[in-house]
Parts: sequence; C-alpha cells; structure tokens
Amino acid sequence: MTDTILKSEYRSVIHKWIKKIKRRDSAPANKREAAKTGLNLPFEEVGCGSRRIVYDLGNGYILKVAIIRQGIVSCQKETDIYERVPLPLKQNLAEIKEYGEGWIVMKKFGRMLADTAENRRKVYQLYKEFKKLDIEAGDIINMKNKEPRWHNIRYKKRNDRIMLIDYGDFHVK
Ligand SMILES: Nc1ncnc2c1ncn2[C@@H]1O[C@H](COP(=O)(O)OP(=O)(O)O)[C@@H](O)[C@H]1O
Ligand SMILES: [Mg+2]
Repeated sequence: MTDTILKSEYRSVIHKWIKKIKRRDSAPANKREAAKTGLNLPFEEVGCGSRRIVYDLGNGYILKVAIIRQGIVSCQKETDIYERVPLPLKQNLAEIKEYGEGWIVMKKFGRMLADTAENRRKVYQLYKEFKKLDIEAGDIINMKNKEPRWHNIRYKKRNDRIMLIDYGDFHVK
C-alpha cells in the first residue's frame, strides 16, 4: 500500500464529484451546500471560499475541493505556483502535500495574522516580493481597496512568518 494522506476511497469520491461539476451547465445558488451534500465527506469543514470548500483532515493537513469549475483551475494554479516559486519566498506558501484534479492536501494553519500596522506593512512587502518575480499576488491584497485579504493569510508563530493559504488566483505575467 502506498503511503498517502488522502485515502483512495476519498480520492474516488472527489473524482466523481469533479466529473459532476465539469458536466453541469451552471453552478447551483448555494454552491457550498451542494458541494457538502454531494461530497458527503466525514471531515469537519474549516472554511469555504467562492471556489473551494476546505476540510480538516485532523492530522495537521486540510483538504481543499473545488465547488465550481473555476475551483478546479484554482487548484491547478496553486500547485503550479507552489512548484515555480523559488526559496526563500516559497517559505511563505502553505505547503502542498498531495493533489489531483480539483483537490489539494495542504498544511493546516489556524492562527490568523493580526490586523496591525506592522503586519500590514509586511503583507504589502510580501506582495512586492512576488511582483519582483512577475507574479501578481491577487489573493493577498484586494486591488480595489488595497486591503489585505486577511482570510487568505495566516501566521506561523514558530518562524514568525506570514503564511499564504490561498494562492490559487495568483497571476504570472
Ligand atoms: N491551509 C489552510 N489552513 C487552514 N485553513 C485553510 C487553509 N486553506 C484554506 N483554509 C480555509 O478555507 C477557506 C477557503 O479556502 P481558499 O483556499 O481561500 O478557497 P477559495 O479559493 O475558494 O477562496 C479559507 O479562507 C480559510 O478559512
Ligand atoms: Mg480564498
């Protein structure tokens, strides 16, 4: 047996779900509820964005699953970004352990980054570091009002480091 975090039974459930969302004509009004019911996974939900639902695997990792077709693209982009970003900046990206079409197993980060002037400065600095690599870090800062997108950002106390948990909407120029 191979040593994987996400068991094969759940991989096949997700595989069927992804096939289903690829087939459907339009997303349901309550896409989160539809995904929860459709997936029926035995894990606790820790969050849900506009494109992906996130479950706690209970072993220090979370599972993200696409709830709409665009979520499949986000998973693909996130894994691409994780592979392409060099050190030291990669240390600010939550580690991706396993992935497949429309899903990702990622390290869990629970601690929010406090909204302080100092942290805001650090978030803007991080945004600039990505920019130097020709990457538009869209999920870190809301381009309309220049506010950090706090729900996509966490804090790793052990290394005093800002961690990005949603980089599925980063754009490479
Ligand atoms: N690595 C993680 N650790 C802890 N919580 C997470 C992690 N990744 C996502 N979440 C939670 O799930 C929510 C949705 O995940 P996200 O990747 O932002 O989805 P979307 O692409 O739909 O915005 C996040 O706002 C956060 O609350
Ligand atoms: Mg998000």
